[in-house]
Amino acid sequence: MLKDPELLSLLLTRKPQHSLAQPFYTDPGIYDSELRNIWAREWIFAASAAEIPKTGNYVTVQIGAYSVIVVRGADGEVRAFHNSCRHRGSRICSSAKGSSPKLVCPYHQWTYELDGRLLWARDMGPDFDAAKHGLKPVHARVAAGMVFICLAEAAPAFDGVKAAADRYTAPHRMDEMKVAFQSTITENGNWKLVLENNRECYHCSGSHPALCRTFDDDPDLVGGEDSIGSPAGAAHVERCEAAGLPSKYLLDPNEQWRLVRIPFVGDAVSYTMDGKQAVKKLIPGMPFANAGSLLFFHYPNTWNHFLSDHVLNFRVLPVSPTETQVTTTWLVHKDAVEGEDYDIQRLTEVWEATNDEDRRVVEENQLGINTPAYEPGPYSARQESGVIQFIDWYTKAMQKALTGRNLIAAE
Ligand code: FES
Ligand SMILES: [Fe+2]
Repeated sequence: MLKDPELLSLLLTRKPQHSLAQPFYTDPGIYDSELRNIWAREWIFAASAAEIPKTGNYVTVQIGAYSVIVVRGADGEVRAFHNSCRHRGSRICSSAKGSSPKLVCPYHQWTYELDGRLLWARDMGPDFDAAKHGLKPVHARVAAGMVFICLAEAAPAFDGVKAAADRYTAPHRMDEMKVAFQSTITENGNWKLVLENNRECYHCSGSHPALCRTFDDDPDLVGGEDSIGSPAGAAHVERCEAAGLPSKYLLDPNEQWRLVRIPFVGDAVSYTMDGKQAVKKLIPGMPFANAGSLLFFHYPNTWNHFLSDHVLNFRVLPVSPTETQVTTTWLVHKDAVEGEDYDIQRLTEVWEATNDEDRRVVEENQLGINTPAYEPGPYSARQESGVIQFIDWYTKAMQKALTGRNLIAAE
């Protein structure tokens, strides 16, 4: 179990452009440090706003030892609170999601308003001050129809990503979407292996027969440092921008998030086995079906696809050094009718298969890293620039958290 100084030393001596040393994927001390220094500091994607459309709808999110309630208030605002009663600390909400007019602790029924104020506590005596016992708030913001939370006292800036993500996703009408389907799987792999795998399509042709019918694995579509290196990608961006769809490659100055709209293969318009629409009606703000996919990732825990007919949100949460939960949410416009406009099986089959294929490659990756014979191997600069970029972000974020300073990444 490594301590922070040993972790810092490993970060400073890591081999650039290579996968990380074994302890990064296995060691409980490094995992614990990541929970403190990334997961409890950064903005974390918690839920799709469409999961909690009405007053009193809530979801609970587990981030390491932290349990958080994300709830829609009577005023329509989304708020987040620590899921720990101010009486003797019981969890207030024990299920993953639900709906309640007030937040009532199951232990002794202390009752909180949806904005966190303590409304009622039985027999606490005349000196008890309810105002001092409201639920502890957690930062919560909504961007691109996605609720992000931050456990830190002082949250990092969020206005930049919010402005960009809201602008790019405006035609997808995220405040008019509903949840069509959600699946959660646990992958027996470190959370960074899940992210690394997502950030490249080097593995796609060998692993994803269904996805590759529509998703183009050309790394030039998404891997460019400052623009799109593929003529097909550039033409797609130009056509979409001309039709009012923000599409240009946009990378956060800190490289924590990115937006870009990419074309599908050939005539495909959606992630379906035949490439045709999964939902009969397009999202009302979309000018045409053939808009490809707007990709949006935000480290450490989400990547997303915004299509002309539906939207996919992916949420990654660490469970242990070698276990990671991945939740996929399929969103469609609220006017789309299941059975008439879309069929759940058709809507979900490509990414259900892809998620399972990714789970298998991540688990094999973890098992191979577990052997003492593992040593960090080289990333392909052409195919895995996204992985290099993610690991560089991770290294800088950890170094900064551990030292309080921006250090020059080991290059
Ligand atoms: S612990 Fe919540 S009411 Fe007692
Ligand atoms: Fe994959």
